[in-house]
Amino acid sequence: MLVIIKEDYDAVSAEAARLLAERLRNKPNLVLGLATGSTPLGLYRELIRCHREQGLDFSKVTTFNLDEYVGLPPDHEQSYHRFMWDNFLSHVNLDPRYVHIPNGMVRDIAAHCKWYEERIRAAGGIDLQVLGIGANGHIAFNEPGSSLGSRTRVKTLTRTTRDDNARFFATFDEVPRYAITMGIGTIMEARELLLLATGESKAQAIHDAVEGPLMARVPASMIQMHGLAHVIVDRAAASRLTGEYVSSLEEGTLVRRPLGPGER
Ligand code: PGA
Repeated sequence: MLVIIKEDYDAVSAEAARLLAERLRNKPNLVLGLATGSTPLGLYRELIRCHREQGLDFSKVTTFNLDEYVGLPPDHEQSYHRFMWDNFLSHVNLDPRYVHIPNGMVRDIAAHCKWYEERIRAAGGIDLQVLGIGANGHIAFNEPGSSLGSRTRVKTLTRTTRDDNARFFATFDEVPRYAITMGIGTIMEARELLLLATGESKAQAIHDAVEGPLMARVPASMIQMHGLAHVIVDRAAASRLTGEYVSSLEEGTLVRRPLGPGER
């Protein structure tokens, strides 16, 4: 695990974009795991800029999003489908046929989750998975207590998560209660992880994930078990860390490379 502490949100976004763009240039048919939330917005903005100004090419990229609310149609303002198309997917040259986001409206959720896992496998697995972290230590919608070996499935959202997300809905009752989410086991199979966090509200979760014991109560602590994980945080999110960490990818990361299939 490489923890990189940057000055602020923009610097975190730029550093994350630099790593992702580097991976994409090395492998044009990258399989990319994507996340929603406020945190990766700066990364997406930066990638859109690289696409427009430097021709960063997404035409052969396959994407898999981490999660989606159950019960929200894809065109719902607060669905993660809408979020992804509005904030990233429609601004780069991604082929819509290669975009995967769980569908929160399916009747048979279990079959859909199984299909999602099969799609990831058929794509050769995820090369680089972008992750945020919840103030309660969740990754994707794997809430505290989630099995560390879990696969894509439906999860009940905690009150804390619904409170955090209530700002996007007119009333609290409209905040969905369930979500389809990649499991922690699914996420751990990505060849490389890129976890981003900014702001004081994430400081405890980052401390627990990076320096705390590994436990299901802090699902993000599982990144300690991953062979190639980068945690890029700003000073505020790093404020409860006690270890010594680097401030730039230059100090080693860009020369590290993810293992290819079968190299593990
Ligand atoms: P945020 O959400 O980026 O909006 O803070 C992150 C998360 O809950 O995983």
